[in-house]
Amino acid sequence: MRNAFGDRPGPYVIGHRGAAGYAPENTMVSFERGIALRADAIELDIHPTSDGELVVIHDPTLERTTNGRGLVSTHSLAQLKELDAGTWFDPSFRDCRIPTLGEVLEWARGRTKILIEIKQGPIFYPSIEEMLLAALDRFQVRNDVMVISFDHHSVRKLKQLAPEIPAGILYAGRCIDPVALARAASADALMPHWALVTKEEVDAAHAAGLLIGPWGGQEQNYEYLLAMGVDAVLADCPDRPRKVMDEVAGDR
Ligand code: G3P
Ligand code: CA
Repeated sequence: MRNAFGDRPGPYVIGHRGAAGYAPENTMVSFERGIALRADAIELDIHPTSDGELVVIHDPTLERTTNGRGLVSTHSLAQLKELDAGTWFDPSFRDCRIPTLGEVLEWARGRTKILIEIKQGPIFYPSIEEMLLAALDRFQVRNDVMVISFDHHSVRKLKQLAPEIPAGILYAGRCIDPVALARAASADALMPHWALVTKEEVDAAHAAGLLIGPWGGQEQNYEYLLAMGVDAVLADCPDRPRKVMDEVAGDR
């Protein structure tokens, strides 16, 4: 199994929804910004359309980040492509559109790794794992992605279908036995909410051969997390953890 986050020892900076602190999340502009801010990889979220495409958007509904209404999954790709996915963030981004996963994979190929979060609930997409694998094969990027989800059933199914693809379980709690959660889902990495991570959890992950990469909002304390030895941090503003890492490297 390759390192889930990349090809070298960590820690890694993952641009959360691209660079969601600086550009409309989950758009091509946001992904470009993440790379420009020295993210090692990009995280994004996927949902299916009514006509069998995968699109990159966080919520199951359109209202928060577009000028559309209703469920993503009841709209066709053509309908979703009509929507403005940038003005909600700032009017200067009015030309931003919802990307397809394929558009992002094509952009990313040979350039950056992608963490793909399978979104499930309250609507569940029974074939999203197969759809994802078909997209990865279409762009020949199985080796360039990691798959993550709060839906551990989805993670387990993905690993049954494609054991070679690294996968992580997302969770937001101080679990009694996070390693057992990972084992139950055949996952390679723990992805806890940052505020509930402990040094004991980091050490337990590593002792079990798992990686650990916390996530959270812009209030994350990167000095605290990196000092605990986490393998990656997810950041809306990738320049912030990068600055901490640069400072630590400068002190050596
Ligand atoms: O993928 C980690 C993190 O993105 C999970 O939370 O709600 O931002 O998708 P969310
Ligand atoms: Ca996500």
